[in-house]
Amino acid sequence: MCGIVGYIGDREVYPVLINGLKRLEYRGYDSAGISVLNKSLNIYKCKGKVSDLENHVKGKITSGNIGIGHTRWATHGEPNDINAHPHESMNGKFVLIHNGIIENYARLKERLEHRGVTFRSETDSEVLVNLIEYIYMKGQVSAEIAVRLALSKVIGAYGIVVMCIDEPDKLIAARKGSPLVIGVGNEEYFLASDATPIVEYTKSVIYLNDDDVAILTKDELILKTIRNDKQTPKVHHLDLDIGEIDKNGYEHFMLKEIFEQPRSILDTFRGRVSSDVKNLHLGGLFNVMPQLINAKRIIIIGCGTSWHAGLVGEYLFEDLARISTEVEYASEFRYRNPIINKGDIVIAISQSGETADTLAAIKLAKEAGALVLGICNVVGSSIPRETDAGVYTHAGPEIGVASTKAFTAQVTVLAMMAVLLGRKREILSEEQYRTLVKELTLIPEKIEKILTFNEHYKKIANLYKGANNFLYLGRGYLYPVALEGALKLKEISYIHAEGYPAAEMKHGPIALIDQNMPVVVIATKDSSYEKIVSNIQEVKARNGIVIALVTEGDTIIKNMADHVIEVPQTNVVFSTLLAVIPLQLLSYHIAVMRGCNVDQPRNLAKSVTVE
Ligand code: G6P
Repeated sequence: MCGIVGYIGDREVYPVLINGLKRLEYRGYDSAGISVLNKSLNIYKCKGKVSDLENHVKGKITSGNIGIGHTRWATHGEPNDINAHPHESMNGKFVLIHNGIIENYARLKERLEHRGVTFRSETDSEVLVNLIEYIYMKGQVSAEIAVRLALSKVIGAYGIVVMCIDEPDKLIAARKGSPLVIGVGNEEYFLASDATPIVEYTKSVIYLNDDDVAILTKDELILKTIRNDKQTPKVHHLDLDIGEIDKNGYEHFMLKEIFEQPRSILDTFRGRVSSDVKNLHLGGLFNVMPQLINAKRIIIIGCGTSWHAGLVGEYLFEDLARISTEVEYASEFRYRNPIINKGDIVIAISQSGETADTLAAIKLAKEAGALVLGICNVVGSSIPRETDAGVYTHAGPEIGVASTKAFTAQVTVLAMMAVLLGRKREILSEEQYRTLVKELTLIPEKIEKILTFNEHYKKIANLYKGANNFLYLGRGYLYPVALEGALKLKEISYIHAEGYPAAEMKHGPIALIDQNMPVVVIATKDSSYEKIVSNIQEVKARNGIVIALVTEGDTIIKNMADHVIEVPQTNVVFSTLLAVIPLQLLSYHIAVMRGCNVDQPRNLAKSVTVE
């Protein structure tokens, strides 16, 4: 949610900022801006995308070696030129970029207004930059002290970078609840809200912790807390390759990420499936295995697609390990006074590792004494650092706003956990365990096969690209897939779509079915196959259009459905991993055909770091 980039060193800063913003645009794209310090704090910003900013900047002064840039996902104030970042303080001493929300901004603004400060924008961020300037001028203190004092008065979340015209050799950055990474170069530093803009320059990074303040000059980094306690920076090696954040010839990141899934799932397996394909080993859970084996209850929390993966987890843990499991939206869990007993296991699922509601729910669960585990994709993000233990999904960077490979990686991790726990709790025999491990490892090549039918999905997409509504139905393990299929379609094509448990159709959605309503029925072979066949007949009896997703070789449904999509046979417990792939591609093609911006759908953001 909002992207931050900054640089200090000997390079020309403008290309570093613009390239960085392009890499970060997936986080927010309502408006963009930069400030380059070169005698003055040249500020350029405008509504729209980074490409609009590039046009806006043409012919203006961009030369300099220190600068900051921002791409915004609006929270306070509509997306327009004035509300775009960077924000300048009233007397032009400071310029600031900010991610997050200053919750007490209205009160701070009122106080500043009483003291004669005037504002140009409606943003909370402009309040903060003026508070910094007010303290700086009134208190005659250094820029760093002004920043720290101002932050001590702020309630809310922030990742900020500040420049001061009187101290032109310095960037000051601070974090609370909104991630910031520093890239350490040779007499140069890079700053960003995630590592994607940094990786092409350096692989040495420092992740700021909450309450950290970093003061950067070209050749020195001072790290301290807001309260002025000195900190020792810990340099990490970034395990990220530049190729992973390029489109590699694909038209969109989403398409690339869909096609990456055979490989990304293999990466999720790496080091966790024994070479003889007989055993699973989850190193991140080693220390907490006794608690997991004895768990009475698991609570899974997440948002969006990660919540859907959690629903699959519920089926897996109950089915294979016989542990009672509940799944909740993190945003509901954190506010509803949930019962958490000592010994409960809470699993937080998150691609970004930064979702504000999930982080808050983790805090609550920890306070209540639960063991909290994380299943996250972004290494070094906040959730893995806040949780007691966990498993990285290792799907590689996911740039497309609509989550695809992160979902299959999350389900893969949940499947590995459930199979392993099933064996350790002696619910599964050694033979069942080995058969499941083997079957799981066959998933990537089966996905490979599904991807070869891309043209078929495209043809179906072409027939229904003009629909106004879609219904997705599934039962059991495939019900979360119905939800995920519907979410993918609405996120990127703006077609209204609903996912439903197939049997529940009779309690409402059936009223909507007519000859204009495509119904995607996920009907691969499992124990409720006959039942879903009846559901298909119910749809057909009302002239609905049925797009059925079936197991290879199915002839019964083929004779009833308008269109059939086949996926290879697998054990039902892993069926989600196959069934979701054609649905991702169906949504993708429909969105492209409708002329939608697939990687940057309107109003959405990749990582929601505000509640
Ligand atoms: C946003 C993204 C979704 C994602 C959700 C949860 O809505 O657009 O793709 O599923 O946040 O994000 P997380 O990073 O916690 O998985």
